[in-house]
Amino acid sequence: MDLVEWWRTAVIYQIYPRSFADSDGDGVGDLPGITARLPHLADLGVDAVWLSPFYRSPMVDGGYDVADYRDVDPVFGTLADFDALLAEAHRLRLRVIVDIVPNHTSSSHPWFVSGLRDRYVFAPGRGDAPPNDWQSLFGGPAWTRMPDQSWYLHLFDPGQPDLNWDNPDVRDEFEDILRFWLDRGVDGFRVDVAHGLVKPDFSEISVFDQDGVHEIYRGWRKILDSYPGQRMAVAEVFDTEPARVARYVAADELHQAFNFDFLEAPWEPETLRRIIDASIAAAAQVGAPPTWVLSNHDRRRHVTRFGGGPAGQRRARAAALLMLGLPGSAYLYQGEELGLPEVLDLPAAARTDPQWLRSGGAELGRDGCRVPLPWEGDAPPFGFGPGGRSWLPMPPDWAGRTAAAQRADPDSMLNLYRAALRQRRPAAALTWLAAPDGVLRFETDGGLLVTANLGDSPHPLPARPLLASSPVDATLPPDTTVWLRAG
Ligand code: GLC
Repeated sequence: MDLVEWWRTAVIYQIYPRSFADSDGDGVGDLPGITARLPHLADLGVDAVWLSPFYRSPMVDGGYDVADYRDVDPVFGTLADFDALLAEAHRLRLRVIVDIVPNHTSSSHPWFVSGLRDRYVFAPGRGDAPPNDWQSLFGGPAWTRMPDQSWYLHLFDPGQPDLNWDNPDVRDEFEDILRFWLDRGVDGFRVDVAHGLVKPDFSEISVFDQDGVHEIYRGWRKILDSYPGQRMAVAEVFDTEPARVARYVAADELHQAFNFDFLEAPWEPETLRRIIDASIAAAAQVGAPPTWVLSNHDRRRHVTRFGGGPAGQRRARAAALLMLGLPGSAYLYQGEELGLPEVLDLPAAARTDPQWLRSGGAELGRDGCRVPLPWEGDAPPFGFGPGGRSWLPMPPDWAGRTAAAQRADPDSMLNLYRAALRQRRPAAALTWLAAPDGVLRFETDGGLLVTANLGDSPHPLPARPLLASSPVDATLPPDTTVWLRAG
């Protein structure tokens, strides 16, 4: 397998711009804030960053409701700030991929505002009922009625009308948007809701993953390939089985897809092994690299999923070494290198996520994984910005979790990630080795031997590891992963 293309083995760090670093003191992260903190990422040792949307937006869904795909929202800065970020990232040898949101625009997008209805999905209702029973992923019907009684489709918030990809104007527009950012020098794209663009007949129950989407990505691949360097795209395709996800990463389509099965897996050896095998097999069928991810801006942070507290931290450390030892490419979500937990006790008044708002508070939503990052100091906002504010309140007890505090502590989560990224061996394949119950043990063609103890009892450890997620002696304790040189 050709390991030369950077994205085949890259570790890509997701930045959620609102919550990474604030340069101007308004309590919201911004592009100059990111640029100033890029040395943290270079020092961490990642290969690339993925920026969640920073485009002009009313921020109904944190920027995933785009009003202008070719401009930076003033809260995040300017296009010049973007160019400066990109130049500084490239100087630090970090690639940059940006988010593209093609399934829907904002309802403030000029197309929707000026009533270009053939570019959206409008339909007549059934009497007073919506055209069909499709539900919004944020809760409630996926249709909203206009004053003239017609209905428009929104698989997400009413502020995010779905585009009509049968309309060639929509296709042309997005190809042009890709070129706009490629011309500026981006290294690739993260494609939001990549399996949603083409809609089935309204009588169908299942909306996503229609065959027609693939023609769109074949067109996009030609554009990516027409640029110098190795430009790539990663697809967000959720709730879809691995064999279907693999179709998005066929050789003439996109390059990677997120591995939500891995993210959703419990800390349980048989399930993890089954998912690892299925992921590698599905990707291999089309010559794509497998990918791995533990957290992102939509999901409960894994420290908390794995039990929270010291046990959650310990498992998160073991999971990090397991993931970073696997062949292929991995995605990190900002703050996981600091071991941040989900913030579960945000005050209701502070919450902004449409998932929370539309469910009337029945679902906590995603604000708890979007709390701004703690950089330094003893009290909120922990160096997030100069204004003493942050758009979501930060837990007062995060002083020990700041990047500065962790840099000084050899046993911190941050230093575990730094060591892992320094010692990681790019790889394309793995071989499972015999192991006791509860233990996963494999070696990669990159020359790494990974042993993860997910069981309840310690097991003998034959040699001194290169790296261990928790202290080891002659045995490998529960909830611990070690790396050794293979062979
Ligand atoms: C994707 C994004 C999520 C957003 C949704 C609608 O799933 O990751 O944050 O709410 O798309 O754009």
